[in-house]
Amino acid sequence: MQLSKDYGFVSNNEKKWRELRRFTLSTLRDFGMGKNSMSQKVQQEAQHLVELLAKLEGGAFEPMTTFRHAVANVICSVVFGSRYSYSDAAFLELLDAVSNYVSFFLSPLAKVYNTFPGIMDRLPGPHKRVLADCQKLKEHIQEKVQFHQLTLDSSCPRDYIDCFLIRAEKVEGGLPSGLAAAGASPRHTESTQHTLLQEQGSPEPMYSHEDLIMSVFNLLGAGTVTTSNTLVFFLLMLAKHPHIQAKVQEEIDAVVGPGRAPSTEDKLRMPYTNAVIHELQRSHKSRIENFPRMATQDVLFRGYTIPKGTPVIPVLSSVHSDPTQWENPGKVDPAHFLDEKGEFRKREAFMAFSAGKRMCPGEALARMELFLFLTTLLQSFTFQLATEHSELDLFSLWLQMERRAIPGKFFALPRPVSS
Ligand code: HEM
Repeated sequence: MQLSKDYGFVSNNEKKWRELRRFTLSTLRDFGMGKNSMSQKVQQEAQHLVELLAKLEGGAFEPMTTFRHAVANVICSVVFGSRYSYSDAAFLELLDAVSNYVSFFLSPLAKVYNTFPGIMDRLPGPHKRVLADCQKLKEHIQEKVQFHQLTLDSSCPRDYIDCFLIRAEKVEGGLPSGLAAAGASPRHTESTQHTLLQEQGSPEPMYSHEDLIMSVFNLLGAGTVTTSNTLVFFLLMLAKHPHIQAKVQEEIDAVVGPGRAPSTEDKLRMPYTNAVIHELQRSHKSRIENFPRMATQDVLFRGYTIPKGTPVIPVLSSVHSDPTQWENPGKVDPAHFLDEKGEFRKREAFMAFSAGKRMCPGEALARMELFLFLTTLLQSFTFQLATEHSELDLFSLWLQMERRAIPGKFFALPRPVSS
Protein backbone atom coordinates (compact mmCIF):
# COMPACT_ATOMS: atom_id res chain seq x y z
CA MET A 1 0.00 0.00 0.00
CA GLN A 2 1.28 3.45 -0.97
CA LEU A 3 0.63 4.92 2.47
CA SER A 4 2.53 2.28 4.46
CA LYS A 5 5.40 1.90 1.93
CA ASP A 6 5.47 -1.66 3.25
CA TYR A 7 6.48 -0.60 6.75
CA GLY A 8 4.73 -2.03 9.82
CA PHE A 9 3.38 -5.45 10.43
CA VAL A 10 0.59 -5.59 7.87
CA SER A 11 3.36 -5.85 5.30
CA ASN A 12 3.68 -7.73 2.02
CA ASN A 13 7.26 -8.55 2.96
CA GLU A 14 6.80 -12.12 4.29
CA LYS A 15 9.87 -12.06 6.55
CA LYS A 16 9.02 -8.72 8.16
CA TRP A 17 5.32 -9.59 8.47
CA ARG A 18 6.15 -12.88 10.22
CA GLU A 19 8.60 -11.28 12.65
CA LEU A 20 6.46 -8.23 13.51
CA ARG A 21 3.25 -10.25 13.78
CA ARG A 22 4.92 -12.65 16.22
CA PHE A 23 6.38 -9.75 18.23
CA THR A 24 3.05 -7.88 18.27
CA LEU A 25 1.02 -10.92 19.32
CA SER A 26 3.38 -11.80 22.16
CA THR A 27 3.50 -8.14 23.31
CA LEU A 28 -0.29 -7.88 23.28
CA ARG A 29 -0.44 -11.08 25.32
CA ASP A 30 2.13 -9.69 27.78
CA PHE A 31 -0.17 -6.69 28.22
CA GLY A 32 -3.06 -8.99 28.99
CA MET A 33 -4.76 -9.76 25.66
CA GLY A 34 -7.20 -12.54 26.47
CA LYS A 35 -6.36 -12.31 30.19
CA ASN A 36 -7.79 -10.79 33.37
CA SER A 37 -5.74 -7.60 33.36
CA MET A 38 -7.07 -6.68 29.93
CA SER A 39 -10.61 -7.56 30.86
CA GLN A 40 -10.40 -5.05 33.72
CA LYS A 41 -9.42 -2.33 31.23
CA VAL A 42 -12.37 -3.23 29.01
CA GLN A 43 -14.72 -3.33 32.01
CA GLN A 44 -13.57 0.15 33.07
CA GLU A 45 -14.05 1.49 29.55
CA ALA A 46 -17.52 -0.08 29.33
CA GLN A 47 -18.35 1.59 32.66
CA HIS A 48 -17.27 5.01 31.28
CA LEU A 49 -19.61 4.38 28.37
CA VAL A 50 -22.50 3.51 30.69
CA GLU A 51 -21.91 6.74 32.66
CA LEU A 52 -21.88 8.75 29.43
CA LEU A 53 -25.14 7.21 28.17
CA ALA A 54 -26.78 7.52 31.61
CA LYS A 55 -26.28 11.31 31.45
CA LEU A 56 -28.49 11.39 28.34
CA GLU A 57 -31.43 10.07 30.43
CA GLY A 58 -32.91 8.17 27.52
CA GLY A 59 -32.26 10.93 24.96
CA ALA A 60 -31.08 10.09 21.45
CA PHE A 61 -27.40 9.61 20.68
CA GLU A 62 -25.11 8.98 17.72
CA PRO A 63 -23.57 5.54 18.42
CA MET A 64 -20.76 5.42 15.84
CA THR A 65 -18.59 8.19 17.30
CA THR A 66 -19.23 7.20 20.92
CA PHE A 67 -18.44 3.51 20.45
CA ARG A 68 -15.41 4.17 18.28
CA HIS A 69 -13.99 6.31 21.06
CA ALA A 70 -14.63 3.68 23.73
CA VAL A 71 -13.08 0.87 21.69
CA ALA A 72 -10.12 3.03 20.60
CA ASN A 73 -9.40 3.75 24.27
CA VAL A 74 -8.83 0.03 24.91
CA ILE A 75 -6.23 -0.32 22.16
CA CYS A 76 -4.70 3.10 23.06
CA SER A 77 -4.17 1.96 26.64
CA VAL A 78 -2.12 -0.98 25.33
CA VAL A 79 -0.25 0.91 22.63
CA PHE A 80 0.25 4.36 24.22
CA GLY A 81 -0.31 3.44 27.89
CA SER A 82 -3.17 5.95 28.23
CA ARG A 83 -6.81 6.59 27.30
CA TYR A 84 -8.44 9.77 25.99
CA SER A 85 -11.35 11.66 27.55
CA TYR A 86 -14.67 11.65 25.69
CA SER A 87 -14.45 15.43 25.41
CA ASP A 88 -11.03 15.40 23.69
CA ALA A 89 -11.89 17.01 20.33
CA ALA A 90 -8.38 16.50 18.90
CA PHE A 91 -8.61 12.77 19.53
CA LEU A 92 -12.03 12.63 17.87
CA GLU A 93 -10.45 14.18 14.77
CA LEU A 94 -7.77 11.49 14.77
CA LEU A 95 -10.44 8.81 15.11
CA ASP A 96 -12.20 10.26 12.07
CA ALA A 97 -8.89 9.99 10.22
CA VAL A 98 -8.61 6.30 11.25
CA SER A 99 -12.12 5.45 10.12
CA ASN A 100 -11.86 7.42 6.83
CA TYR A 101 -8.61 5.60 6.15
CA VAL A 102 -10.14 2.17 6.84
CA SER A 103 -13.15 2.94 4.58
CA PHE A 104 -10.78 4.16 1.84
CA PHE A 105 -8.47 1.16 2.31
CA LEU A 106 -11.40 -1.19 1.65
CA SER A 107 -12.81 0.81 -1.28
CA PRO A 108 -12.27 0.15 -5.03
CA LEU A 109 -10.61 3.59 -5.30
CA ALA A 110 -7.78 2.37 -3.02
CA LYS A 111 -7.07 -0.43 -5.51
CA VAL A 112 -6.82 2.15 -8.33
CA TYR A 113 -4.62 4.35 -6.15
CA ASN A 114 -2.29 1.49 -5.30
CA THR A 115 -2.03 0.47 -8.95
CA PHE A 116 -1.43 3.99 -10.36
CA PRO A 117 -0.04 6.04 -7.46
CA GLY A 118 1.93 8.40 -9.73
CA ILE A 119 -1.17 9.41 -11.70
CA MET A 120 -3.50 9.49 -8.70
CA ASP A 121 -1.11 11.77 -6.79
CA ARG A 122 -1.66 14.39 -9.48
CA LEU A 123 -5.45 14.06 -9.55
CA PRO A 124 -7.87 15.65 -7.10
CA GLY A 125 -10.25 13.36 -5.20
CA PRO A 126 -11.13 11.96 -1.78
CA HIS A 127 -7.79 10.11 -1.58
CA LYS A 128 -5.98 13.46 -1.10
CA ARG A 129 -7.96 14.26 2.05
CA VAL A 130 -7.57 10.71 3.42
CA LEU A 131 -3.80 10.79 2.91
CA ALA A 132 -3.48 14.25 4.50
CA ASP A 133 -5.48 13.03 7.53
CA CYS A 134 -3.32 9.93 7.79
CA GLN A 135 -0.24 12.13 7.82
CA LYS A 136 -1.71 13.96 10.84
CA LEU A 137 -2.31 10.65 12.59
CA LYS A 138 1.25 9.53 11.85
CA GLU A 139 2.54 12.80 13.30
CA HIS A 140 0.49 12.23 16.46
CA ILE A 141 1.97 8.74 16.80
CA GLN A 142 5.40 10.25 16.15
CA GLU A 143 4.95 12.68 19.07
CA LYS A 144 3.97 9.77 21.32
CA VAL A 145 7.05 7.83 20.22
CA GLN A 146 9.32 10.80 20.96
CA PHE A 147 7.84 11.12 24.46
CA HIS A 148 8.36 7.38 25.01
CA GLN A 149 11.98 7.62 23.84
CA LEU A 150 12.68 10.42 26.29
CA THR A 151 11.06 8.70 29.27
CA LEU A 152 11.88 5.05 28.52
CA ASP A 153 12.89 2.80 31.41
CA SER A 154 13.98 -0.46 29.75
CA SER A 155 13.49 -2.45 32.95
CA CYS A 156 9.83 -1.47 33.13
CA PRO A 157 8.05 -1.25 29.75
CA ARG A 158 4.76 0.63 30.01
CA ASP A 159 3.16 -0.35 26.71
CA TYR A 160 3.58 -1.57 23.11
CA ILE A 161 5.72 1.42 22.06
CA ASP A 162 8.16 0.85 24.95
CA CYS A 163 8.43 -2.86 24.05
CA PHE A 164 9.09 -1.98 20.40
CA LEU A 165 11.82 0.51 21.38
CA ILE A 166 13.47 -2.06 23.66
CA ARG A 167 13.32 -4.68 20.91
CA ALA A 168 14.76 -2.20 18.35
CA GLU A 169 17.63 -1.52 20.75
CA LYS A 170 18.33 -5.24 21.11
CA VAL A 171 17.98 -6.23 17.45
CA GLU A 172 19.11 -3.18 15.54
CA GLY A 173 20.99 -1.00 17.98
CA GLY A 174 17.96 1.19 18.79
CA LEU A 175 16.21 4.25 17.43
CA PRO A 176 18.28 7.37 18.11
CA SER A 177 16.39 9.30 20.80
CA GLY A 178 18.78 12.28 20.57
CA LEU A 179 17.04 13.48 17.40
CA ALA A 180 13.75 13.76 19.21
CA ALA A 181 15.37 15.67 22.05
CA ALA A 182 17.04 18.01 19.56
CA GLY A 183 13.58 18.95 18.28
CA ALA A 184 13.89 17.65 14.73
CA SER A 185 10.69 17.93 12.69
CA PRO A 186 8.70 14.66 12.43
CA ARG A 187 9.43 14.27 8.71
CA HIS A 188 13.12 14.96 9.15
CA THR A 189 13.32 12.62 12.13
CA GLU A 190 11.64 9.78 10.26
CA SER A 191 13.90 9.79 7.23
CA THR A 192 17.07 10.47 9.19
CA GLN A 193 16.40 7.62 11.57
CA HIS A 194 15.75 5.22 8.72
CA THR A 195 19.04 6.20 7.07
CA LEU A 196 20.88 5.78 10.36
CA LEU A 197 19.56 2.26 10.78
CA GLN A 198 20.64 1.33 7.28
CA GLU A 199 24.06 2.79 7.92
CA GLN A 200 24.37 0.57 10.97
CA GLY A 201 24.63 -2.31 8.53
CA SER A 202 21.15 -3.84 8.66
CA PRO A 203 20.15 -4.32 4.99
CA GLU A 204 16.50 -4.78 5.85
CA PRO A 205 15.59 -3.33 9.24
CA MET A 206 12.40 -4.77 10.73
CA TYR A 207 12.27 -2.58 13.82
CA SER A 208 12.90 0.77 12.14
CA HIS A 209 11.24 3.97 13.20
CA GLU A 210 8.83 3.76 10.24
CA ASP A 211 7.96 0.17 11.17
CA LEU A 212 7.06 1.33 14.67
CA ILE A 213 4.90 4.22 13.41
CA MET A 214 3.11 1.99 10.88
CA SER A 215 2.65 -0.92 13.31
CA VAL A 216 0.92 1.44 15.77
CA PHE A 217 -1.09 2.84 12.86
CA ASN A 218 -2.07 -0.73 11.83
CA LEU A 219 -3.18 -1.60 15.36
CA LEU A 220 -5.28 1.55 15.73
CA GLY A 221 -6.86 1.05 12.31
CA ALA A 222 -7.51 -2.69 12.57
CA GLY A 223 -8.40 -2.68 16.27
CA THR A 224 -10.83 0.23 16.38
CA VAL A 225 -13.16 0.38 13.40
CA THR A 226 -13.90 -3.36 13.10
CA THR A 227 -14.85 -3.81 16.74
CA SER A 228 -16.82 -0.58 17.12
CA ASN A 229 -18.71 -1.15 13.85
CA THR A 230 -19.55 -4.66 15.02
CA LEU A 231 -20.83 -3.35 18.36
CA VAL A 232 -23.02 -0.70 16.74
CA PHE A 233 -24.34 -3.32 14.33
CA PHE A 234 -25.18 -5.56 17.33
CA LEU A 235 -27.20 -2.81 18.98
CA LEU A 236 -28.97 -2.00 15.74
CA MET A 237 -29.88 -5.67 15.27
CA LEU A 238 -31.05 -5.99 18.86
CA ALA A 239 -33.19 -2.85 18.47
CA LYS A 240 -34.72 -4.53 15.37
CA HIS A 241 -35.17 -7.83 17.25
CA PRO A 242 -36.43 -6.75 20.70
CA HIS A 243 -37.34 -10.33 21.73
CA ILE A 244 -33.68 -11.38 21.34
CA GLN A 245 -32.53 -8.28 23.26
CA ALA A 246 -34.97 -9.11 26.09
CA LYS A 247 -33.75 -12.71 26.27
CA VAL A 248 -30.11 -11.59 26.54
CA GLN A 249 -31.10 -9.17 29.31
CA GLU A 250 -32.92 -12.00 31.12
CA GLU A 251 -29.73 -14.05 31.06
CA ILE A 252 -27.65 -11.08 32.28
CA ASP A 253 -30.09 -10.50 35.14
CA ALA A 254 -30.04 -14.19 36.11
CA VAL A 255 -26.26 -14.71 35.94
CA VAL A 256 -24.79 -11.29 36.78
CA GLY A 257 -27.65 -9.42 38.47
CA PRO A 258 -27.73 -5.64 38.91
CA GLY A 259 -25.08 -5.26 41.63
CA ARG A 260 -21.81 -5.90 39.79
CA ALA A 261 -20.25 -5.54 36.34
CA PRO A 262 -20.25 -8.54 33.95
CA SER A 263 -16.87 -10.34 33.76
CA THR A 264 -15.31 -12.70 31.22
CA GLU A 265 -15.91 -15.66 33.56
CA ASP A 266 -19.66 -15.06 33.26
CA LYS A 267 -19.50 -15.99 29.57
CA LEU A 268 -19.30 -19.70 30.38
CA ARG A 269 -22.64 -19.44 32.18
CA MET A 270 -24.27 -17.33 29.46
CA PRO A 271 -24.64 -19.63 26.43
CA TYR A 272 -27.55 -17.69 24.92
CA THR A 273 -25.67 -14.36 24.96
CA ASN A 274 -22.58 -16.04 23.52
CA ALA A 275 -24.70 -17.59 20.77
CA VAL A 276 -26.33 -14.21 19.99
CA ILE A 277 -22.89 -12.57 19.66
CA HIS A 278 -21.77 -15.24 17.18
CA GLU A 279 -25.06 -15.16 15.29
CA LEU A 280 -24.99 -11.38 14.93
CA GLN A 281 -21.41 -11.55 13.67
CA ARG A 282 -22.50 -14.20 11.19
CA SER A 283 -25.25 -11.95 9.88
CA HIS A 284 -22.99 -8.86 9.67
CA LYS A 285 -22.28 -8.65 5.94
CA SER A 286 -20.97 -5.13 5.63
CA ARG A 287 -17.46 -6.29 4.70
CA ILE A 288 -18.00 -8.59 1.80
CA GLU A 289 -14.46 -9.30 0.60
CA ASN A 290 -11.38 -10.26 2.53
CA PHE A 291 -7.90 -9.11 1.46
CA PRO A 292 -6.53 -10.61 -1.79
CA ARG A 293 -4.54 -13.85 -1.57
CA MET A 294 -2.63 -15.88 -4.18
CA ALA A 295 -3.09 -19.57 -5.06
CA THR A 296 0.09 -21.35 -3.89
CA GLN A 297 -0.64 -24.34 -6.14
CA ASP A 298 -3.04 -25.28 -8.96
CA VAL A 299 -6.49 -25.71 -7.43
CA LEU A 300 -9.54 -27.44 -8.95
CA PHE A 301 -12.62 -25.47 -7.83
CA ARG A 302 -16.16 -26.22 -9.06
CA GLY A 303 -14.82 -27.63 -12.29
CA TYR A 304 -12.41 -24.74 -12.98
CA THR A 305 -8.66 -24.84 -12.55
CA ILE A 306 -7.22 -21.87 -10.67
CA PRO A 307 -3.55 -21.85 -11.70
CA LYS A 308 -0.80 -21.35 -9.13
CA GLY A 309 -0.05 -17.62 -8.73
CA THR A 310 -3.61 -16.42 -9.48
CA PRO A 311 -4.81 -13.61 -7.18
CA VAL A 312 -7.90 -14.77 -5.27
CA ILE A 313 -10.28 -12.61 -3.21
CA PRO A 314 -12.02 -14.73 -0.55
CA VAL A 315 -15.63 -13.78 0.16
CA LEU A 316 -16.02 -14.71 3.83
CA SER A 317 -19.70 -13.75 3.93
CA SER A 318 -20.55 -16.44 1.36
CA VAL A 319 -19.60 -19.07 3.96
CA HIS A 320 -21.85 -17.31 6.46
CA SER A 321 -24.87 -17.66 4.19
CA ASP A 322 -24.13 -21.13 2.80
CA PRO A 323 -27.32 -23.25 3.09
CA THR A 324 -25.23 -26.42 3.36
CA GLN A 325 -23.70 -25.07 6.59
CA TRP A 326 -26.56 -23.21 8.31
CA GLU A 327 -30.11 -24.33 9.06
CA ASN A 328 -31.63 -20.84 8.57
CA PRO A 329 -28.97 -18.83 6.71
CA GLY A 330 -31.26 -15.89 5.89
CA LYS A 331 -32.62 -15.47 9.44
CA VAL A 332 -31.19 -14.17 12.71
CA ASP A 333 -31.32 -17.42 14.66
CA PRO A 334 -29.15 -17.80 17.80
CA ALA A 335 -30.01 -21.54 17.71
CA HIS A 336 -27.28 -21.85 15.06
CA PHE A 337 -24.84 -21.72 17.96
CA LEU A 338 -26.80 -23.73 20.57
CA ASP A 339 -26.99 -27.48 21.01
CA GLU A 340 -30.11 -29.41 21.99
CA LYS A 341 -29.37 -28.79 25.71
CA GLY A 342 -29.14 -25.02 25.13
CA GLU A 343 -25.33 -25.04 25.56
CA PHE A 344 -23.09 -22.98 23.29
CA ARG A 345 -21.66 -24.90 20.31
CA LYS A 346 -18.88 -23.79 17.96
CA ARG A 347 -19.46 -23.92 14.21
CA GLU A 348 -16.66 -24.62 11.75
CA ALA A 349 -18.23 -22.38 9.11
CA PHE A 350 -18.01 -19.32 11.38
CA MET A 351 -15.20 -17.21 9.92
CA ALA A 352 -15.70 -13.63 11.07
CA PHE A 353 -12.00 -13.44 11.97
CA SER A 354 -10.93 -15.22 8.76
CA ALA A 355 -8.77 -18.37 8.71
CA GLY A 356 -5.20 -19.39 8.01
CA LYS A 357 -1.90 -17.81 8.91
CA ARG A 358 -3.05 -14.21 8.34
CA MET A 359 -6.23 -14.55 10.37
CA CYS A 360 -7.04 -11.73 12.76
CA PRO A 361 -4.42 -11.54 15.54
CA GLY A 362 -6.80 -9.40 17.63
CA GLU A 363 -9.51 -12.07 17.87
CA ALA A 364 -9.07 -12.72 21.62
CA LEU A 365 -9.24 -9.01 22.41
CA ALA A 366 -12.17 -8.46 20.05
CA ARG A 367 -14.16 -11.34 21.60
CA MET A 368 -13.54 -9.99 25.08
CA GLU A 369 -14.61 -6.49 24.02
CA LEU A 370 -17.75 -7.67 22.24
CA PHE A 371 -18.88 -9.68 25.27
CA LEU A 372 -18.04 -7.14 27.98
CA PHE A 373 -19.25 -4.02 26.16
CA LEU A 374 -22.48 -5.67 25.06
CA THR A 375 -23.40 -7.22 28.41
CA THR A 376 -22.43 -4.11 30.42
CA LEU A 377 -24.57 -1.93 28.15
CA LEU A 378 -27.57 -4.28 28.14
CA GLN A 379 -27.39 -4.60 31.91
CA SER A 380 -28.21 -0.87 32.16
CA PHE A 381 -30.04 0.03 28.95
CA THR A 382 -32.52 -1.15 26.35
CA PHE A 383 -31.66 0.03 22.84
CA GLN A 384 -34.41 1.32 20.59
CA LEU A 385 -34.84 2.92 17.18
CA ALA A 386 -37.35 5.72 16.53
CA THR A 387 -40.53 4.14 15.09
CA GLU A 388 -40.09 5.54 11.56
CA HIS A 389 -36.64 3.94 11.39
CA SER A 390 -37.55 0.55 12.76
CA GLU A 391 -39.56 0.01 9.55
CA LEU A 392 -36.50 0.55 7.31
CA ASP A 393 -34.69 -2.52 5.96
CA LEU A 394 -31.51 -3.46 7.78
CA PHE A 395 -29.10 -2.67 4.95
CA SER A 396 -30.32 0.94 4.50
CA LEU A 397 -30.33 1.42 8.26
CA TRP A 398 -26.78 0.17 8.58
CA LEU A 399 -25.56 2.41 5.74
CA GLN A 400 -27.17 5.44 7.41
CA MET A 401 -25.72 4.45 10.75
CA GLU A 402 -22.25 3.99 9.27
CA ARG A 403 -22.42 7.45 7.70
CA ARG A 404 -23.73 8.82 10.97
CA ALA A 405 -26.75 10.02 9.02
CA ILE A 406 -29.52 9.27 11.51
CA PRO A 407 -28.89 11.63 14.38
CA GLY A 408 -31.68 11.75 16.92
CA LYS A 409 -33.07 8.35 16.06
CA PHE A 410 -31.25 5.87 18.30
CA PHE A 411 -31.96 5.64 22.02
CA ALA A 412 -30.44 4.02 25.11
CA LEU A 413 -33.36 3.77 27.53
CA PRO A 414 -32.29 3.23 31.15
CA ARG A 415 -33.58 -0.06 32.55
CA PRO A 416 -35.43 0.00 35.85
CA VAL A 417 -33.08 -1.13 38.62
CA SER A 418 -34.57 -4.25 40.22
CA SER A 419 -34.03 -4.68 43.95
C1 HEM B 1 -14.97 -7.65 15.76
C2 HEM B 1 -13.71 -7.31 15.62
C3 HEM B 1 -12.77 -7.78 14.55
C4 HEM B 1 -13.02 -8.47 13.39
C5 HEM B 1 -14.37 -8.96 12.86
C6 HEM B 1 -11.75 -8.64 12.71
C7 HEM B 1 -11.59 -9.31 11.51
C8 HEM B 1 -10.41 -9.39 10.81
C9 HEM B 1 -10.26 -10.00 9.52
C10 HEM B 1 -11.38 -10.69 8.71
C11 HEM B 1 -8.96 -9.87 9.15
C12 HEM B 1 -8.33 -10.31 7.83
C13 HEM B 1 -7.60 -11.61 8.01
C14 HEM B 1 -7.03 -12.12 6.70
O1 HEM B 1 -6.35 -11.36 6.01
O2 HEM B 1 -7.28 -13.30 6.38
C15 HEM B 1 -8.27 -9.16 10.23
C16 HEM B 1 -6.93 -8.83 10.22
C17 HEM B 1 -6.31 -8.12 11.22
N1 HEM B 1 -6.86 -7.74 12.43
FE1 HEM B 1 -8.77 -8.00 13.01
N2 HEM B 1 -10.76 -8.07 13.47
C18 HEM B 1 -11.33 -7.54 14.60
C19 HEM B 1 -10.69 -6.91 15.66
C20 HEM B 1 -9.33 -6.68 15.73
C21 HEM B 1 -8.64 -6.10 16.85
C22 HEM B 1 -9.27 -5.70 18.20
C23 HEM B 1 -7.32 -5.99 16.49
C24 HEM B 1 -6.18 -5.42 17.31
C25 HEM B 1 -5.57 -5.96 18.26
C26 HEM B 1 -7.19 -6.49 15.14
C27 HEM B 1 -6.02 -6.55 14.42
C28 HEM B 1 -5.90 -7.06 13.14
C29 HEM B 1 -4.68 -7.00 12.36
C30 HEM B 1 -3.39 -6.31 12.80
C31 HEM B 1 -4.93 -7.67 11.15
C32 HEM B 1 -3.95 -7.92 10.00
C33 HEM B 1 -3.22 -9.23 10.28
C34 HEM B 1 -2.17 -9.63 9.26
O3 HEM B 1 -2.20 -9.13 8.13
O4 HEM B 1 -1.34 -10.46 9.63
N3 HEM B 1 -8.43 -6.93 14.72
N4 HEM B 1 -9.18 -8.89 11.24
